[in-house]
Amino acid sequence: VWFLLGGRRRQRGEPPLENGFLPYLGCALQFGANPLEFLREKQKKHGHIFTCRVAGKYIHFLTDPFSYHALIRQGKHLDWKKFHFATSAKAFGHGSIDPAEGNTTENFHQTFIRTLQGNALNALIEAMMENLQYVMLQSRTSKLQPNTWVTEGLYTFCCQVMFESGFLTLFGKEFSSNNDKNLPAKQETERAHILNALENFKEFDRIFPALVAGLPIHLFKSAHSAREKLGEALLHKNLRKRDNLSELVTLRMFLNDTLSTFDDMEKAKTHVAVLWASQANTIPATFWSLFYLLKSPEAMRAATKEVQNILEGAGEKISLDGKRIALNRKQLDNMPVLDSIIKEAMRLSSASMTLRVAKEDFILHLENDFYNIRRDDIVALYPQLLHFDPEIYTDPLAFKYDRFLNENGEEKTDFYRKGHKLKYYYMPFGTGIAKCPGRLFAVHEIKQFLALIFSYFEIELVDNNVECPSLDQSRAGLGILQPANDVDFRYRLKCL
Ligand code: HEM
Repeated sequence: VWFLLGGRRRQRGEPPLENGFLPYLGCALQFGANPLEFLREKQKKHGHIFTCRVAGKYIHFLTDPFSYHALIRQGKHLDWKKFHFATSAKAFGHGSIDPAEGNTTENFHQTFIRTLQGNALNALIEAMMENLQYVMLQSRTSKLQPNTWVTEGLYTFCCQVMFESGFLTLFGKEFSSNNDKNLPAKQETERAHILNALENFKEFDRIFPALVAGLPIHLFKSAHSAREKLGEALLHKNLRKRDNLSELVTLRMFLNDTLSTFDDMEKAKTHVAVLWASQANTIPATFWSLFYLLKSPEAMRAATKEVQNILEGAGEKISLDGKRIALNRKQLDNMPVLDSIIKEAMRLSSASMTLRVAKEDFILHLENDFYNIRRDDIVALYPQLLHFDPEIYTDPLAFKYDRFLNENGEEKTDFYRKGHKLKYYYMPFGTGIAKCPGRLFAVHEIKQFLALIFSYFEIELVDNNVECPSLDQSRAGLGILQPANDVDFRYRLKCL
């Protein structure tokens, strides 16, 4: 039977095996329809480790959070790069970025850490603070009149504001001087360019899961052309016409030019990959943070109070006369309530998956037992199981804004399961060596976004009883899930 179905047989010492019913695809369709439900069902049937055949691959799922560190501890048998490098090349269309394959000697991971963390992060935060205010108050002001409500989709709003501000922060602005008479017209043109890039980004992002699953981009004509247009915009010759490029982009351009044999378009596509990584999760995470705040008056009160206190402490006054608020990294780091709100919003919406590929046959040692793993098999964690575990998070589907605060109002870090303290309880950014290098920037930019919204606007849902949108499962495994539908809200400038 296994021969006919194309599956393999479980050998002694291997985890329980689910070949699924479909030749080649195995469990792929069941998994894809609702990964959380599928994995919970298999966990009930088989216990804390089991193997699923998904699209020709064998994936061993570790579902016990106390086993998660096994994946990190056994790093010498497990490869994190192969899958990431191959996925990036396939999805974005650049050549292999694996130094072993000879196109480049750049260590991308190191570049990211160097330019997204440490001192480089201060500059990103500063630029983002300015850009967010430019976008919220200036670039989109044609709609804003004092005392007049603007009604929009909340997701659409988060998309536009975060994309435009994030784009300007990483890729800088088109050259122009401040006393240029034509400045407003130029800013208008720039905004049109960025919103056009956003349309291309959305078109491409829609088919991203299909590309990761291995479908060729040629099947998707408009998404293919959208990706090429994004590449065009990020060609080095076009980036050189921009001011205030981030250290990340400047260094990546330099390393593309000095360490790689990529052609111009391939270089540009490595920047498309960075653009995608910087936006695809941040946008929905921003949406969920603001949505849950709007649904929870208690959370809103606590958050606005925290922001007011920090602004007062910093001697910052909110005004609409063109003077901008500045909050630095230290001040933003002193906002435990916003931290807890963002964490809780991401706990509820994250469906990332950590994958490692076995470099050779080896024995995987877990807490109390061990299993044989074959070369080229995948070992995986699906932390949504953890995030929705009622033993760790009581009433796991409810948004509780203070879930990550302790009794002193500081960050809570003790979470338990079966009486034992967990090391891993919150993992939207992945874990181990491949953990998201942009995670600090991501949380800071969402905090900045929220702090500025509370400072400048009155904001409310059009219908306070609106239901929470469901999670769009099409991106399960890839990060923060998008809402299945948008929600109307309205906002207006505060009378200051
Ligand atoms: C990788 C999550 C925002 C840059 C990743 C990974 C996850 C993730 C799960 C893969 C880790 C793994 O495979 O184990 C998120 C979430 C974000 C976010 C949830 C927002 C809420 C950002 C931002 C940037 C960024 C703002 C940059 C400005 C990257 C890069 C990688 C990455 C460059 C690839 C790292 C590598 O392969 O070396 N992110 N991310 N991310 N992220 Fe983020």
